[in-house]
Amino acid sequence: MALITLSSASGSPGVTTTAVGLALSWPRPVLLVEADPTGGSAIAAGYLRGDAAPSDSLIDLAFAHRNGTLLEAIPSVTTAIRNTTVTLIPGTRAHGQARSLTSLWEPLTEALRALDALGQDVIIDAGRLGLVGSPEPLIHGADLTLLTTRCDLVALSGSRSWAQTLRNQFDEQGAPAALGLLVVGEGRPYSTREVSAVLSLPVTAALAWDEHAAAVFARGESPPRRFQGSALLRSLHSAATAIQGRVAANRDQLAAATPGRA
Ligand SMILES: Nc1ncnc2c1ncn2[C@@H]1O[C@H](COP(=O)(O)OP(=O)(O)OP(=O)(O)O)[C@@H](O)[C@H]1O
Ligand SMILES: [Mg+2]
Repeated sequence: MALITLSSASGSPGVTTTAVGLALSWPRPVLLVEADPTGGSAIAAGYLRGDAAPSDSLIDLAFAHRNGTLLEAIPSVTTAIRNTTVTLIPGTRAHGQARSLTSLWEPLTEALRALDALGQDVIIDAGRLGLVGSPEPLIHGADLTLLTTRCDLVALSGSRSWAQTLRNQFDEQGAPAALGLLVVGEGRPYSTREVSAVLSLPVTAALAWDEHAAAVFARGESPPRRFQGSALLRSLHSAATAIQGRVAANRDQLAAATPGRA
C-alpha cells in the first residue's frame, strides 16, 4: 500500500485537481489529505462545492496532537466523500493557521504510515513547496513524492530549481527513486521525454490536458458528456497504475535506505 505526496514549485499546475482525480480513480479505498498550507479548503470549496463542507480539519488534528490524542482524533476529522471510496481529511481554512500545523506534520506522517501499514493508501496534496507550514515530513516520508508540473517553458523554468533541490534531498536520504515528476498536459508543448531531460527526473505519470473534465475535480462542475471515457480519466487511470507500480518497485529500496519504513 502507498503514501503518495503531490506538490508543485510554482504556478498552479493542477496539484489539487490531480490529487482529487487520482483519489477518485484509485482502484482501492484511499484517504485524501489536504495538506496545502495555503489554506482555503480548496477541495471542500471546489470538488465538494461547499455542500458537504466538513466541520473539522487538519487544525483540529494539530490541537489534538497538542493534547496527546492525535491517533484518536484522526477518524473524527475524516469524512467520507459520498458515493465514492474516498475519505478526506480537509485542509485548513486560512493561511494564518499554517504555523500551527508545523508541529503536526511529523507525528501525522507517522500516523499515516501506520494506516498505510494496515493497507490504507493515502494521497496527499502538499501544495506549493517552500511555504510557511509546508508539510516537509510528508514530502520526505512518502513512498513516492511527485513534483507536479506543466510542460511549458514558464512552468519548467519554475520547476527546475525545486527539482534540483528535491533531487539532492532524496539522494541524501538514500531514496532517489521515491521522487518523480507528474506532468499535467503532456505535449503542451514539450513531451514527457523533454520535461524529464530538463528537470533530470523521471516522469512517473502524465495527464492529458482536458479542461472540461478537470473542472469536475477542480470546481465540482457537472461531468461533461463521455466523462468516463475522457482523455483525463483515461490518463488518470494509467497514472494510478504507474504510481502503484513505481511504489511497489521502490519498497525494497526504501526499506533498505530507512530501516523500519517498509
Ligand atoms: N489536466 C488538466 N487539464 C486541464 N486543466 C487542468 C488540468 N488539471 C488542472 N487543470 C486546471 O488548472 C487549474 C489549477 O488547478 P489546481 O487548483 O488543481 O492547481 P494547484 O496546483 O492545486 O494550484 P494551487 O497551487 O493554487 O493550489 C484549474 O483551473 C484546473 O481546472
Ligand atoms: Mg491546490
